[in-house]
Amino acid sequence: MEEKRNVLVSTCSFRDVKPIMMDLPYPQLQVREKNRTYANLLSNDYAGAVSEMTAITQYISDESRLFCEDCMLAKTILGIAMAEMIHLQKLGEMIFLLGGNIDFSARQRDGRSRMWTPQYLAVPQNAREMLFADIEAERAAINQYQAHMRMIDDNYINATLARIIQDEEYHIMILQAMGRE
Ligand SMILES: [Fe+2]
Repeated sequence: MEEKRNVLVSTCSFRDVKPIMMDLPYPQLQVREKNRTYANLLSNDYAGAVSEMTAITQYISDESRLFCEDCMLAKTILGIAMAEMIHLQKLGEMIFLLGGNIDFSARQRDGRSRMWTPQYLAVPQNAREMLFADIEAERAAINQYQAHMRMIDDNYINATLARIIQDEEYHIMILQAMGRE
């Protein structure tokens, strides 16, 4: 006997989604020497208010609220989130090589640290506002990476940060294109 129920189904398939990144290689991941100051700076890019951790969770929160109304946009957002996860991985490896801690806290210059919180996310209700907030977050990330590159005297670290910035610029271009559609 067939049971009568209202099954809710996602018709949006994600099987072909890949990280959305510039088609350029990443430099060899390395640091010149251990340096806690640089590790602390990168901990902000890792898990501060403006960070890869914030980007990943903000994109996933967008995706989970978009897939029914706009599968194509949801897939693009997921692909961008996957790229941000690779950025998180690169930062984590550099923090480790520099002798820092991977504990989802952002360390300030005064020695205090702040645990990452979902309060950092922007969670607007409609797609247009989500795209706007995401573009703003990408711009803030680029500015923060550039500021950190000016403070870091290690070409190896800066080469990886410069490569991450290329992906973030690419994301802005894609988000702007999605917003125009
Ligand atoms: Fe990005």
